[in-house]
Amino acid sequence: MLDVVVLASGRGSNFAALLDAQQSAELPIRIRALLSDKSAAPALDIARAAGIDAIVLAPRDFADRAAFDRALFARAAQFHPGLIVLAGYMRVIDAAVVNEWHGRMINIHPSLLPKYPGLHTHARAIEVGDGVHGASVHFVTAQLDGGPVIAQAQIPVLDGDTPDTLAARLLPLEHRLLAASVDAIARHRIALGNHGVECDGKPLVAPLCLQADGGLRAVG
Ligand code: GAR
Repeated sequence: MLDVVVLASGRGSNFAALLDAQQSAELPIRIRALLSDKSAAPALDIARAAGIDAIVLAPRDFADRAAFDRALFARAAQFHPGLIVLAGYMRVIDAAVVNEWHGRMINIHPSLLPKYPGLHTHARAIEVGDGVHGASVHFVTAQLDGGPVIAQAQIPVLDGDTPDTLAARLLPLEHRLLAASVDAIARHRIALGNHGVECDGKPLVAPLCLQADGGLRAVG
């Protein structure tokens, strides 16, 4: 069993999807706690309803970003997680703290990285006229949304799509992508090696791709 701590700033649908997958015993993980920087985050209520520790730390109570991040991750460390999952956690994390969790922290991001790091990913994909959009799960490094990508899910951009319709169509795939990625890490199939992501002990040349059956496959 892999002990997992989840960080979320908002709605928490990705967190809820992980919980569901854990509860249906599909995922060999134990979610130990949900930590948030926002006291009104609905994700906290989801955790409480599931009997999981729900912890809030407010950035304004700390002198600066580094102090907040040190406190937040010290709290996370009390649960001895083998993996920290950023599931809609919307703050940039201090580089020294990120480095302490090298290879043990992943993030889900709503774009086909390296395209569109940062915010407004759906609007940017539409604006550029992309035919394909998607989401990525990656190991977190000090470079914002720039760490090695583990897996991606793709959807077509349709005529008339708005950022909202695109986001709504992508979200269920995000849930499956995150669950499948956490599953692969928990089963020691995926790890961060010295030269990038390794899958079954071999370097991953391109991100794994989410399939219709919910599995991850190498492409090419
Ligand atoms: C998700 O779409 C996730 O990919 C995105 O925030 C949303 C959170 O939804 N994350 C980022 O933009 C991180 N840069 P949720 O709270 O319902 O899981």
